[in-house]
Amino acid sequence: MPIPATPESAAARVAELTAELNRHNELYYQQAAPVISDREYDDLLRELADLEAEWPELAAPDSPTRRVGGVPLEGFQQIKHPVRMMSLDNTYSPEEVAAFWQRLVKALGTERIPVLIEPKVDGVAVSVCYENGRLKYAATRGDGTTGDDVTENVKTIRRLPHRLPGGAPELLEVRGEVFMPNSAFRQMNEEREAAGEARFANPRNATAGTLKQLDPRIVAQRPLDIVLYGLGQVRGIELPTVSAFHALMKRLGLRASDRVWAVETLPEVLAAIAELDIYRRTLDYETDGAVLKVDSMAWQEQLGVTSKAPRWAMAYKYAAERVETLLKSITVQVGRTGVLTPVAELEPVFVSGSTVSRATLHNDEEIQRKDIRVGDTVIIEKAGEIIPAVIEVVLDKRPADSVPFSLYDHVRGHCPSCGGPIIKEEGFVAWRCPSFLCPAQTATRLKHFAGRKMLDLEGIGEIVADKLVERKMVSNPLDLFSLDEAALAVLNLGNDDKARVFGAKNAATLLTALERAKTMPLSRWLFAIGIREVGESAARELARLHRNFGELAHSPILAELRTVPKGKRKEDHPVLAPYQIAQEVGQVAAGEVIDFFASESGQVFLARLAELGIDPQSDNYAPQPAVVPAGAGAPLAGTTWVITGTLSQPRETFADRIRAAGGKVSGSVSAKTSCLLAGTEAGSKLDKARQLKVKVLDEAGFEALLAGQGQGGGGAADRSEEHTSELQSHLMIS
Ligand code: IVH
Repeated sequence: MPIPATPESAAARVAELTAELNRHNELYYQQAAPVISDREYDDLLRELADLEAEWPELAAPDSPTRRVGGVPLEGFQQIKHPVRMMSLDNTYSPEEVAAFWQRLVKALGTERIPVLIEPKVDGVAVSVCYENGRLKYAATRGDGTTGDDVTENVKTIRRLPHRLPGGAPELLEVRGEVFMPNSAFRQMNEEREAAGEARFANPRNATAGTLKQLDPRIVAQRPLDIVLYGLGQVRGIELPTVSAFHALMKRLGLRASDRVWAVETLPEVLAAIAELDIYRRTLDYETDGAVLKVDSMAWQEQLGVTSKAPRWAMAYKYAAERVETLLKSITVQVGRTGVLTPVAELEPVFVSGSTVSRATLHNDEEIQRKDIRVGDTVIIEKAGEIIPAVIEVVLDKRPADSVPFSLYDHVRGHCPSCGGPIIKEEGFVAWRCPSFLCPAQTATRLKHFAGRKMLDLEGIGEIVADKLVERKMVSNPLDLFSLDEAALAVLNLGNDDKARVFGAKNAATLLTALERAKTMPLSRWLFAIGIREVGESAARELARLHRNFGELAHSPILAELRTVPKGKRKEDHPVLAPYQIAQEVGQVAAGEVIDFFASESGQVFLARLAELGIDPQSDNYAPQPAVVPAGAGAPLAGTTWVITGTLSQPRETFADRIRAAGGKVSGSVSAKTSCLLAGTEAGSKLDKARQLKVKVLDEAGFEALLAGQGQGGGGAADRSEEHTSELQSHLMIS
């Protein structure tokens, strides 16, 4: 199609394309009779998107292009539900259903009560509002009263019309369940796995995670669907029964429950529930129960609601299906955080609608608790999850020669991914691979390494980190420093079908960031390498006590600290006391640091760093604060600060400056706080500081305090110096 040259011809083509695309959507979803291929549909959609880009005034909020996702949001607005979104009471046995039925009989005074039974879809509840036939907004349930505005995300659901056909009520708020079809879920997980991304545990989690996305373009790539099951606010139509609601949905091209049983007595209810249990296995989405609803709205009104759920409806939850099969072997997978997970390799068996050949065994302790052994016949259960669990062993069928399973022995003490030694920390159930160099963990470590508070490598986000690993350009974080700019520029962030390159500009930015990282202080590097127990504050404290990695690797302070007996205070320790070591660095952290530098991966790390000519230095070295003179180098030595409210720069910038001046930064106000740096809109921390009579400084006061330091006085500094000396007497604690 040639690009229309005038606003009029563009408007005409936009209208034509909109109508055409809406028609194909309807053919595809409502009538299951598509007449064009997905490719042709995408071409039409692209033409419309191009036109809307050229003539923005023609882009309607309900344009079909919104199905591919509008602009990313900063956060979700809140929407108040005009009618509360309630939940349902659950029943788990025919007896409980009978008890519910008796309550209905008693309240309504009749044995015959027309009710509908329908599948309970296991997804995420949303409310979708149409005004004058146009999709106005969509919101999550939230707390039932107010939910997140997920309109742009919900608009990407191709099943859901943005405009209703003629004759739609003036106001129609419908409630439904957003879900991801099982087939789409499996495909998405395979793609994620291939791209080195984390798998979603089940379709419901995938749906919830997708709806929470702030970028609707990502949502558009995830195949969500929706079933509508109920009403919120309506105007312009009378619906006397739930059956009438179903008929309305059909007329408007909105998908309601795929099958509904209309029954009137308790035996019929129980039979319908049993039938639905068979039927639901044919569905391509997860269901976890049956919902029973009284058909008559007048009776619904009469029955009323409790604080949480209506009295006119209930959910029956099906027990998870269990089957027996043979456990052929146990394999061990290394997760992205280094956790070793044992996986049961099963004789394939059909359960809850699909064939299962693997099940998670969680961890070693779980295996030992259930005494699960290779060669056992086991009972597996598939609950809401796609991944089934091994429930128990059929001991009668255990082979005579079976032996107890030990994960450690099974992998001979070594990580199946990198071959390094595995560890289990005190108090933890899982074995882990702690190696900094383990390929299974590279992407996770890379993202941490590049974080804003670590080495701040702009450009390395979720996708780039995954792709760098997938394309084998980086197998441990230090490999970043040997990246080739040209190779980086053509790094494909898409897939083989749809390439999307990182680009020359991003590559150049990243290389600049890497150069800057080489000179970043020790504390940031320490935080970046991700030693267990070494968070941001511990890293700062370790850098206060050591000049560089060389000192840290052979630290007498940490060696001593590691041996402090439990319950003994390091403040009372003859060697450690002068160092005034903060609580963030305790016995456990000391052990972790020593072990890291002594380990093979720690040694390789130090050697690689030396090869690269990187030797980060501490920028807050002050090992024995008592002997550091307050003044020139460390004007805030001995003071503890809390930062709150909105300041002209990120709080972390101020925190860095306080630390550089010898002060400590803490997260909460207490009697020990020397001063609160409060920006605008400071809240509870400011109240607390006032209550405890803690000194409060605004940003100007803070600047004056620091500026006053080290200045000879005179001139413009006069006022601030006066200010400063007064403050100092408050702040300096010897
Ligand atoms: S009717 C007043 N029908 O299950 C609430 N709910 O566990 C009326 N659900 O909150 C709900 N399928 O999010 C109804 N066919 C169905 C459903 C269904 C799934 C969800 C819904 C509800 C939750 C209760």
